[in-house]
Amino acid sequence: MEKLTTPTIYSSPSSRYHSKWMRVARQLGRYHLLDRIAVGGMAEIYRATTFDSHGIKHMVAIKRVLRHLVEDDDFLQMLVDEAKITSLLDHPNIARVYEFVRIADEYFMAMEYVDGRDLRALIDRIKDRERSLAAEDAAYVMMRVLDALHMVHNKADGTGTPLNIVHRDISPSNVIVSFDGQVKVCDFGIAKARHSRVQTRVGVLKGKVKYMSPEQAMGHKLDGRSDVFSCGSVLYELVCKHPPFTAQDEMALIFRVRDAKYVRPAKHGADIPSPLDRILRRMMTRSRDSRYQTAKEAADALREYLAIEAPDYRPARLGELLREHFAEDIEKDQQKLREFVIDTEAAGPLGDNLISEVLGEGAPYTRFTPSPITPDQEAAREEMMETRLMPRVPAPESRLPPDVDLHEMRTMIIDPDERMARVMKRKHRPRPGAHFHQNRALGTQMRTGHYADPDEKGDGDAAENEEEADPTNEMDEPLHAAKTRILKPE
Ligand SMILES: Nc1ncnc2c1ncn2[C@@H]1O[C@H](COP(=O)(O)OP(=O)(O)O)[C@@H](O)[C@H]1O
Ligand SMILES: [Mg+2]
Repeated sequence: MEKLTTPTIYSSPSSRYHSKWMRVARQLGRYHLLDRIAVGGMAEIYRATTFDSHGIKHMVAIKRVLRHLVEDDDFLQMLVDEAKITSLLDHPNIARVYEFVRIADEYFMAMEYVDGRDLRALIDRIKDRERSLAAEDAAYVMMRVLDALHMVHNKADGTGTPLNIVHRDISPSNVIVSFDGQVKVCDFGIAKARHSRVQTRVGVLKGKVKYMSPEQAMGHKLDGRSDVFSCGSVLYELVCKHPPFTAQDEMALIFRVRDAKYVRPAKHGADIPSPLDRILRRMMTRSRDSRYQTAKEAADALREYLAIEAPDYRPARLGELLREHFAEDIEKDQQKLREFVIDTEAAGPLGDNLISEVLGEGAPYTRFTPSPITPDQEAAREEMMETRLMPRVPAPESRLPPDVDLHEMRTMIIDPDERMARVMKRKHRPRPGAHFHQNRALGTQMRTGHYADPDEKGDGDAAENEEEADPTNEMDEPLHAAKTRILKPE
């Protein structure tokens, strides 16, 4: 961390890049860390490079857990689960996860780098420039997101049993559009699948109340329709340049989201085509039974809208739009890359991949190396020039345990002090990956081991009871008592 913020700086007057200063990229496992592109409450995202077995350099994104959270075993386990879930999702509209690694006290996820900007940045830029996003661009982006979610919601294990994965955090910042027009969903940080092992009581601040579905804001058990609603909220903001629900404070916002009153886009000065407005309304219907029932239904509605209203729509347009709005940033991004030199003698540890079992043999990461090409590889490269793409690995869901049902969870709003007390209570627990060397079958151990506190047993049942509760009912008592923070869903 320190090394990253105060990198070794070398004067490099002879640099062919005309850069005055060069930094040596820090090696982390198979990767060389370059610039930091995002920092959140839980992790930092870096651009990084690695080499494949043919000596070809690849750009990856590294999501590195913030130092203070490495103390939090539940949080780490949640990240391992995130990585496991995402690594199962092989879809062109989902940023691919390569591995989740522990090296000493560092934990990080390596994933496909999406060279572009998230929708948060795009919306902000468009607003700054007093421009608007064309309805068809917005419809196209969300159609792609819904296509990805359809796959996510229907993902099954090796026995054909649905995993019931719900993203739960679809928001503008978790959808990235690349400069060549690709749309990728990222951040399955709070996604839940039946096989997720951690029945987390300990929360991680994920305060995107704004894009929650009403049932999520009410703490109900969720299914794919919740993500459909969230996609509607993001689509709404894309076309209106204004989020669908706003309030003075987070608690008031929770009420707004629960009510889910649809404010006509015209109120925000947006003139959106009525067929798109109808689709939006249906996606954002408060009762999930009256919503599109699947992500595919909603995606198909948008597809049909595009076919009828914008038959000449070219997805390439999206890339052009991004490049136009971020032209200066692209130049800066490239300039930053040129500031880094990679130590070709890099020889640090590669670390332990905590999701290797799920990924199986022959996964792309196994071919990543921090050291560039050797003479042997050079020869192989000559031969293999045409096979630059990583071979796709068959979906490894068959390696998941089919017997654990942990989908009984709900959004919980808890007091941060309580959370801290719980963290302290768990400190004695084995940390994810701590016994990796003693037990190669760690994945199995982690999936079957149960860390539930006896005194917290039965938490999940409440969600069951509330499942069919009338949404117009009074709010939960504990909700009023708690400080307003949406923490990790239960
Ligand atoms: N694979 C990726 N490629 C490029 N940028 C990414 C990638 N993953 C995340 N980002 C950027 O980093 C931001 C934070 O990453 P995210 O996984 O959403 O973390 P957090 O859990 O902090 O929200 C995203 O909003 C996006 O802008
Ligand atoms: Mg995010």
